[in-house]
Amino acid sequence: MRLNIGIDGPVGAGKSSVADAVAARLSILHLDTGAMYRALGLTALRRGIDVQDEEAIVALCRDLGVSVRHEADGQHTFVRGEDVTGLIRTPEVSMAASTVSRYAQVRKEMVRIQQQLASETDMVLDGRDICMTVLPNATAKIFLTASPEERARRRFLEMQAKGMSDTYEQVLEELKKRDDQDMNRPVEPLRQAPDAVLVDSTHLGFDEVVDEILRIVEEKSHG
Ligand code: DC
Repeated sequence: MRLNIGIDGPVGAGKSSVADAVAARLSILHLDTGAMYRALGLTALRRGIDVQDEEAIVALCRDLGVSVRHEADGQHTFVRGEDVTGLIRTPEVSMAASTVSRYAQVRKEMVRIQQQLASETDMVLDGRDICMTVLPNATAKIFLTASPEERARRRFLEMQAKGMSDTYEQVLEELKKRDDQDMNRPVEPLRQAPDAVLVDSTHLGFDEVVDEILRIVEEKSHG
């Protein structure tokens, strides 16, 4: 049986780095599904398409040609063959990704691609709707969270290290706004699946979170 692990959670919970480490320990791939919504958001911004215009965004999504490839340094995300990995991490693209992810037809297309990839290979997938929609039969389901202040603090330090000038208050405000949008959209809003295990990392170190998730995976695989 396929080993498919789903990790959902709000902005800045550390899903992506934790999923990377869990995948590395299990020698399987990690699919960062947020990168695909980011690729769509980036392309809309670049082409001057209004992210509030559902019809235009759905048309763009159908024609996007988004793909991912796993290389030695992790996942690379492509739009029609162009590597956009380095361009999709700005706050503007984050907000645009959150907005375009509200549209049902966009989600349908992204979920289709993600399910196809997960059916081909053992993987850890991280996102917002993995445990409820993308992988309803996942081997293990995790809901990873932390307090908004702690998530903002971590994201702020990350951004500082990259030389970005946003203040802690700006980061916290953006995080709350995006969480609100992701949790209150009508289609597949972010929520903990009833059969997902809650991991609150507010007072846990990175390695402790990874070990806890590996323990849950072990338990679910043999349980
Ligand atoms: O995980 P992230 O911050 O890179 O995701 C960017 C946005 O994409 C997020 O605000 C909501 C959306 N998203 C989603 O709706 N479903 C997913 N599986 C992953 C991301």
